[in-house]
Amino acid sequence: MHRILVTGGAGFIGSNFVHHLVRQTDHHVTVLDKMTYAASREAIDELPADRVELVVGDIAEAETVNPLVARADAVVHFAAESHNDNSLHDPSPFIRTNLIGTFTILEAVRQHGTRLHHVSTDEVYGDLDLADPKRFTEDTPYNPSSPYSASKAGSDHLVRAWVRSFGLRATVSNCSNNYGPWQHIEKFIPRQITNVLDGIRPRVYGDGLNVRDWIHADDHSSAVLRILEQGEIGETYLIGADGEKNNLEVVRLILKLMGRPEDAYDQVSDRAGHDRRYAIESGKLRHELGWTPQFQDFEQGLAEVIEWYRSREDWWRPHKDATEQKYAAKGQ
Ligand code: NAD
Ligand code: DAU
Repeated sequence: MHRILVTGGAGFIGSNFVHHLVRQTDHHVTVLDKMTYAASREAIDELPADRVELVVGDIAEAETVNPLVARADAVVHFAAESHNDNSLHDPSPFIRTNLIGTFTILEAVRQHGTRLHHVSTDEVYGDLDLADPKRFTEDTPYNPSSPYSASKAGSDHLVRAWVRSFGLRATVSNCSNNYGPWQHIEKFIPRQITNVLDGIRPRVYGDGLNVRDWIHADDHSSAVLRILEQGEIGETYLIGADGEKNNLEVVRLILKLMGRPEDAYDQVSDRAGHDRRYAIESGKLRHELGWTPQFQDFEQGLAEVIEWYRSREDWWRPHKDATEQKYAAKGQ
């Protein structure tokens, strides 16, 4: 492989993956990104121009996608509408990008015989009870709850059908909640960090006992590259780093690390259809492909992320008021 097309490569995880590719390989990277509200040119613009090029365009438009796929050796597909709360307010961009966009990518890779890795989420499996010791595996039945997770589940099904019916050379990964730099401040961890920096009390939905299985974005990137290079065609791999924490634990830790009383948060109205618990069993990826996460200490990783948001106010400040106004309109 020499030329990799990365869709959504200006987003939170896609840009992390582009940095990872530049560090770990000698591939040339073309980023195809629509530059929605969630994208950051700054996240990739310091990378060498002879290694990374940015094409601004829509994955749902075949005339944009086809020529880029034609000159790629592999496609890594991150582009998506990614925020559950937004999907509850207006599902339509989720249907267009996550379903029509993935369909458009699939038809292009089918035409050109190109290797594809499709990046997806653990939310396709629905949720687990707090009292249930089980974790998601590659065999867990699909049972998505929100318009976002249903659109991602649909995109996974399209990829699997194209593999079976058309012999596409594709793999799929389903990862748990990521944290790290460059994550949009609409998401839980950066929202609460930037709230505290602004003197606003963190906002926890419902009873705050919902569990997410946190993984650093660097570990997600290394797993995706491992699957791209060594994954078996047609296979699905779950990506997780044994990072289960409930939302109250995370908010208390943020407050502690930022020198505030650990109970200085507010509980606000719950998310509709709020998934209770996600948890990943990533044994297949670890045993078959020999992958291990590097970030084992969540507190240390979180402390570094807090410092990053402290030092990059120039990046998040322009989005803070509008983001909080959207939440305030819903009482959150
Ligand atoms: P993000 O919202 O930060 O970034 C998405 C990127 O896709 C943005 O740069 C955006 O401009 C681009 N994009 C959106 N619509 C597009 C379109 N029609 N054409 C081209 N580009 C478009 O998302 P993220 O958190 O980085 O997630 C990336 C991928 O990883 C998604 O597929 C998501 O489902 C998956 N994922 C995310 C997480 C997580 O915790 N954030 C966990 C597991 C899987
Ligand atoms: O599990 C993988 C998924 O993780 C990805 O597929 C999604 O793209 C990504 O956004 C994330 O989805 P979540 O809905 O779990 O993430 P979010 O950051 O929105 O919320 C995390 C938890 O925190 C969830 O239980 C809702 C809660 N929450 C969120 C916000 C924004 C709060 O309690 N308060 C908040 O202000």
